[in-house]
Amino acid sequence: MKIDHIAIAVDDLKEAVQTYSTLLQVDDIEYERVESEGVSVAILHLENGRIELMEPIGDSSPIKKFLEKKGPGLHHIALETEGIDSQVSRMTSCGIRFLGEVRPGSAGTRVTFIHPKSLHGVLAELCAHPK
Ligand code: CO
Repeated sequence: MKIDHIAIAVDDLKEAVQTYSTLLQVDDIEYERVESEGVSVAILHLENGRIELMEPIGDSSPIKKFLEKKGPGLHHIALETEGIDSQVSRMTSCGIRFLGEVRPGSAGTRVTFIHPKSLHGVLAELCAHPK
């Protein structure tokens, strides 16, 4: 298991990219629209992981609701694993609750989310990269 990325919900993607890229001196930035999650994402590649800045792309976006309720800030951490399906089964048998099935995420990944109630208040994505 590895830490894959840290995702931050923002109101203004352009402004957030400006702030983070300047502060962290990162110029390796990818942009992606993830329709399935209702977000436009900027991915900042650091040496040992990524920071993903997420802006909602519609009123029905879960990130829109998050921003309205809590304001901008840390949204989830993502843990990378191989054999995501067997990890989900293993964790489910340990009593971990998931938010939805394993589904396609950004950049060809397969993802699901662990309910914050199962992780002491932290929303966590479980993800597997394509081989
Ligand atoms: Co994520």
